[in-house]
Amino acid sequence: MQVNLRVLAGPYRGRVFSFTQPDTFLIGRTDDSHLCLPEDKFFSRHHCLLEVNPPRCFMRDLGSTNGTFVNGQRVGEAFLKSGDQIQGGETVLLVEVNANDVSVQTSAGVSREENLSRPTIVNVECLNCGRREKAEAATADEHLTFLCEDCRIELKHAPQPIPGYDTIRILGRGGMGSVMLARDQVSGRAVAIKTLLPEFAVSDKAMRRFMREIDVAAALKHANIVEFLDRGVNQGVVYLVTEFIDGPDAAKLADARGGHLPLQEGLAIISQALAALSHAHGQGYIHRDIKDQNILVSGSWPNITAKLTDFGLAKSFTQSGMSGVTVAGEMAGTLAYMPPEQLKNFRDVQPQSDIYALGMTAYSLLAGTLALSLGRKTSMAETIKAIFEQPPIPLRERAPQLPAQVCEIIDRALVKDPTERWQSANAMRNALKHVS
Ligand SMILES: Nc1ncnc2c1ncn2[C@@H]1O[C@H](COP(=O)(O)OP(=O)(O)OP(=O)(O)O)[C@@H](O)[C@H]1O
Ligand SMILES: [Mg+2]
Repeated sequence: MQVNLRVLAGPYRGRVFSFTQPDTFLIGRTDDSHLCLPEDKFFSRHHCLLEVNPPRCFMRDLGSTNGTFVNGQRVGEAFLKSGDQIQGGETVLLVEVNANDVSVQTSAGVSREENLSRPTIVNVECLNCGRREKAEAATADEHLTFLCEDCRIELKHAPQPIPGYDTIRILGRGGMGSVMLARDQVSGRAVAIKTLLPEFAVSDKAMRRFMREIDVAAALKHANIVEFLDRGVNQGVVYLVTEFIDGPDAAKLADARGGHLPLQEGLAIISQALAALSHAHGQGYIHRDIKDQNILVSGSWPNITAKLTDFGLAKSFTQSGMSGVTVAGEMAGTLAYMPPEQLKNFRDVQPQSDIYALGMTAYSLLAGTLALSLGRKTSMAETIKAIFEQPPIPLRERAPQLPAQVCEIIDRALVKDPTERWQSANAMRNALKHVS
């Protein structure tokens, strides 16, 4: 599947931006926008952000002064379909959704029908209740794994047992599904099973790709990374089996300590998470979803072990088409930890992007609040804008009791420009070691 944004009018008239994989596309006056309109006074600096996950395309206006228009109507956010026109100032973009990755001509005035082959609508059956619905497929004979919305909601709250494991209890629920404590019927070992509920009908090809990515992440072995044990698909539900960590995630631990962690305990957890990151980055792997909830802590102080979990999972889930778009979906909980470059260039994240998210996690664990001024009611558009534009609040201002050096080290992870941050997890870890 492919999404094209064809510029029909404005300074970029004739250009076509093509997406075959999940990506983001920023329109605004700043020079790091994908569609940069510095001279057009109509546009705000960060005007609107498109998130593409073919065949889906989602537009969010970032609280711009003059607004973003879809088919002539000013909208704050909208899922876009083939034929929709996005307009701001002189610029008009046409959205085209193609079934296959076709080459596009970039010269102006090309009749769009020439290149279009629309996705095929096929019948799909919910693997849980048998309900029939229609879904988009690249070809008419594509086999799709599908769960209807009602079953997804039900299965998130009451997951089905996975063959080979006895369910003991639910441990928690996240953006993609739930996590249960279970016992392996053969080894008797306690395990955690995370079930992932695809939001959309998934082709066999996409499912294979997802499993391949999971297998790559599973190869990461480290004392501070949750060990991966097994994976599979059961009646449309993807499940991942990992070691069970007998202890809370770092967010719950901080809550239990009254909102934030004592300095030494916080530093021990951060340092162990940095050791895990250093190992993963050395293997060419980026986590992309570091946050307090993805660090699991066992043992009791001072003998604690922190382990990072969910390596690359959110990205693989999105990339395989199992979820729609991050900035609209349930995964938005992660948004406040994302560095600006990850929102702007979804596909091109670096180790420094994880360092930012870990810096935000460290800040949150030690200060009990995030480095950006975001309230409970802050909208997603405001959060995105804050990530792009709001200077992070120095940690010392939020937590004056902390040593100045610790604050500086964490603040340095949160600089907007990735080249100004700690360049490696090890460098940040060593710096923390010397002050503690
Ligand atoms: N291996 C594990 N052992 C013990 N508890 C776990 C394990 N994995 C997850 N949990 C618990 O289950 C909760 C939900 O995890 P889940 O990963 O689904 O959600 P999340 O981390 O909040 O969000 P996301 O879906 O973005 O990762 C975690 O916060 C944690 O408390
Ligand atoms: Mg998680």
